[in-house]
Amino acid sequence: MTGTVTNIHHVGIVVRDLHRAYRFWRDTLGLPLVKEAELADQGVRAALLAAGDSEIELLEPLSPDTGVARFLASRGEGLHHLCFRTSHVDHHLEQLKARKVALLDTAARDGLAGRIAFLHPKACHGVLVELATPPGAEAVVESPVRFKRLVIGCRAPQETAHTYRSLFDLPDVEINGGPRTMLGWAGGSTLLMVPASEVGGMEGMVALSMVAPDMPPLIARLEAFGPAMLLGAGELTVEPQSSHGVHLHISRWHFP
Ligand code: CO
Repeated sequence: MTGTVTNIHHVGIVVRDLHRAYRFWRDTLGLPLVKEAELADQGVRAALLAAGDSEIELLEPLSPDTGVARFLASRGEGLHHLCFRTSHVDHHLEQLKARKVALLDTAARDGLAGRIAFLHPKACHGVLVELATPPGAEAVVESPVRFKRLVIGCRAPQETAHTYRSLFDLPDVEINGGPRTMLGWAGGSTLLMVPASEVGGMEGMVALSMVAPDMPPLIARLEAFGPAMLLGAGELTVEPQSSHGVHLHISRWHFP
């Protein structure tokens, strides 16, 4: 039996203060809280919020000598890791080990999302990737804003896409040629690999795109909250200083 990746389980965001972050991600965007817990071995308080087929994980460091605290100190709040749901994390880990893929965890352990393990960032061109096998079928929680796409800046998008196909067997999503590549599930969560030159030279996770079926109530909540944002026709962008370091784009839901 092998580990099969079935979706992007969540994207992890490091925040300074979890309860402050709730004001934006839970109360303003409206993402329902699925679970919150203190993870002593990782030195964090973490929360998962529902966002359609995927979730958003918020991570607050509890002590200064942890990876998450060091990330916060050196880079500030922002996108920290990407987690794929795999059917059997232990089997998947064995396959990766057999291929000599660089890992942070050589054995799966208990995490907020279930049984989890982290790869070394050098395995995925600088992106920290987690694998998770949730304990059982997770109930679908309705959310007014849904995860759509994570944008990854790459020195060589085709090469990065090849790595993700090879390690996680991610399917390709058709897009109109060019230097960009999209992997994931059409109509569901996707990863968009773009040349770093298109995103100010940034490599790694650079932006998060979400969709909302009903924009007016969302815009009303955002205006009450007062973030730095740009409103367009059927879309909006929240500036990172208002969304805990995340370049966030939200557009009106449309089926592809
Ligand atoms: Co995570």
